[in-house]
Amino acid sequence: MEITSGDGQKIVDREIDDRTIREELLSQVRKCVARAGPRDEVLKAICRLLYDGIDRYDWVGFYFVDASRKVLRLGPYVGAPTRHVKIPFGQGVCGLAAQKRQALMVPDVFKVVNYLSCSPRVKSEFVMPIFVGSRMAAELDIDSHTLDAFGKSDKDFLEAVAGAVAEIL
Ligand code: SME
Repeated sequence: MEITSGDGQKIVDREIDDRTIREELLSQVRKCVARAGPRDEVLKAICRLLYDGIDRYDWVGFYFVDASRKVLRLGPYVGAPTRHVKIPFGQGVCGLAAQKRQALMVPDVFKVVNYLSCSPRVKSEFVMPIFVGSRMAAELDIDSHTLDAFGKSDKDFLEAVAGAVAEIL
């Protein structure tokens, strides 16, 4: 796999560690946010960066929070199409994260009782809420085909991505 830095330079991941990849991706996410453009195009570009940049990220997407109706609505994403375009608070991992207003790391989705499956290939999931001040504006949802795919480095990284994305929500 290769990632491309903002100025077109190719970086081969075998030569750099996970941390360096995440730092580079975060810098590219910040550049995307800083660039003027339609919000959903910017969000889609960020999904693409994360999906292409990290092997274990097999579905990357945003859900927008509709606080008055207590539902999540599917926003830009990269990965297999999902039928979960509207998720009530409390349902599935995304709905639970919205209800609790906190990040949820699920090492094994088969152990979650009311899990909303996007694809039978998905084995673990991470949901990171995105706050604008105290308002929860959206969630960043990552699915992986690998069991127990997420760790502290993902949590720190996705927290930083959420902080950057909050600027355009
Ligand atoms: N698995 C999520 C639903 C969203 S799809 O993964 C894209 C859930 O349980 O909330």
